[in-house]
Amino acid sequence: MFVVTAAGAKGGSTRSTTCVNLAVEAGRARKRAALIDIDPQCTSMNWRDAREAEMPVVTSVTPSRLAKAVQAARDDRFDLCLIDTQPHSSDATIQAAELSDLLLIPVKPWVFDLRTLETTARIVRLTGKPAYVVISAAPFAPRQIAEAEEAIRSHGLKVAPVVIHQRAAIAHATTMGLGVSEWDPNSKGAQEMSALWEWLASIMPKGRAVDHANKRSIERKIRRSSNQAISIPAGADR
Ligand SMILES: Nc1ncnc2c1ncn2[C@@H]1O[C@H](COP(=O)(O)OP(=O)(O)OP(=O)(O)O)[C@@H](O)[C@H]1O
Ligand SMILES: [Mg+2]
Repeated sequence: MFVVTAAGAKGGSTRSTTCVNLAVEAGRARKRAALIDIDPQCTSMNWRDAREAEMPVVTSVTPSRLAKAVQAARDDRFDLCLIDTQPHSSDATIQAAELSDLLLIPVKPWVFDLRTLETTARIVRLTGKPAYVVISAAPFAPRQIAEAEEAIRSHGLKVAPVVIHQRAAIAHATTMGLGVSEWDPNSKGAQEMSALWEWLASIMPKGRAVDHANKRSIERKIRRSSNQAISIPAGADR
């Protein structure tokens, strides 16, 4: 089982949106995904309550119960376990990071958001886990995105090869307990989330029973996969 934590110190930086959509994308690719919500706001859990489909499995636990919940998902032979975290709690994020094979750090490409990366970069250094920043809810402004990439690298962090733009379809789908690919599979938001999933899937070890994935092989895959940026045409809305 591959364990991915959505981390970040800033509120509203699209951690929950990223988690629920990646969990849905995983299901569409016939992978069994579990999503563990350790944020007391329970955004992912609330999303699950609004949903009719059985998958993905979503559970809400306190950080102190996280290790047990991850082990239960491993015992149940899930392929992917996503952990949705809260902002402003380095302790909880460190606990999640330590149980993870990869950290995804969604961030909006604005200066106040980018500055908070220092806190998360410290957690990445402390835990030594592979980590990627995903530029998310981005405006259609290539120069601003290029500057954000530079700022991310200045924190010693790597940039994921897929940018998720500000898309009404993404926000709308989550309010109905759906992933954007379920709500409007032809939308640009769906194309971007699928591209993010494809990239993540290319990093995940193949096969079901992979126990705590080998860090070096993940890093090798990450290096290979991130040589080329994946680009969905920009354009207003959806
Ligand atoms: N790509 C996107 N396009 C448009 N809106 C988005 C996008 N991604 C997220 N949003 C919206 O941004 C807001 C914050 O997203 P989300 O709740 O996922 O962030 P978070 O980091 O989990 O926040 P919190 O700090 O509350 O946990 C939500 O209203 C969500 O619908
Ligand atoms: Mg959240």
